[in-house]
Amino acid sequence: MKILVTRTLPSFIISKLEAAAAVDVFTGGGSIPADELRTRIADADALVCLLTETIDRVTIDTAPLLKVIANVAVGYNNIDVPAAQARGIVVTNTPDVLTEATADLAWALIMDITRRVTEGDRLIRRGAWKGWALDFMLGNELRGKTLGIIGFGRIGQAVAARAVPFGMRVIHTDAQTVPGSGAIPVDRLLATADVVSIHCPLTPETRHMINQAALARMKRSAYLINTSRGPVVDEAALAWALKNGIISGAGLDVYEEEPAVHPDLLTLENVVLAPHLGSATTETRTAMADLAVRNAIAVLTGQLPLTPVS
Ligand code: DGY
Repeated sequence: MKILVTRTLPSFIISKLEAAAAVDVFTGGGSIPADELRTRIADADALVCLLTETIDRVTIDTAPLLKVIANVAVGYNNIDVPAAQARGIVVTNTPDVLTEATADLAWALIMDITRRVTEGDRLIRRGAWKGWALDFMLGNELRGKTLGIIGFGRIGQAVAARAVPFGMRVIHTDAQTVPGSGAIPVDRLLATADVVSIHCPLTPETRHMINQAALARMKRSAYLINTSRGPVVDEAALAWALKNGIISGAGLDVYEEEPAVHPDLLTLENVVLAPHLGSATTETRTAMADLAVRNAIAVLTGQLPLTPVS
């Protein structure tokens, strides 16, 4: 049996795989090129892959022995799940282990954009700081404001929990509820929230959910935070909204065409840009890789996967 792994992983994790099967690790820099992936997957029983790799129907069709695709990510929009499942191939993801790290990063963006931290950093570095002044670089406080969460799954709920010590009221879109917070339609959430934080998966329904019309519904004083998937937000529309004062600011961790970022966003002071760091802590990335590998081994050894995509 062969397991194809598309990126070097910590050696203790690779050892677990080696105990179960022959392991083929792609050690080139960056994502494995599509043609190389198709060549190396042809005789693989399992694939451990990353969100930057597109596992489409053609790739799946070139792997007649494939039994499991273990994504090292909670999002799995990079995989053609129906094509895999039609072949009886199990698809797994890495929920739970990255919830806290991603919620922390969402809050890092909230704090940064509302208190203008990165904007101030840029100002200091270009030598433009003239010293303390009563009305200099004033931001906005969170206490008493409303946090609107689009996508109230694990990460959305973890972001909501962090709002309590900041004295924020939480509203959210989905049916799952926590005591005292009600699910409301997206349009109402957009019109009500002072900070809108996106935590839904990327699906055909959520692609460009935040477009010009959605942004126009938001308060002019509001902020948009996205740590989910870039294409949920129409980046050109967001740049328009930020440029024209339609909303106050944005904090982004994900982009429509990563690693490219809409050029207009790069010129704006009222947006903080992080390079897809939501789960990027040593602890969390190790746990994600470990969970993906345990999923692959479970399927190959005839056990139930730990975290299958349904
Ligand atoms: C995921 O797991 O989907 C995240 O985007 C990785 O940081």
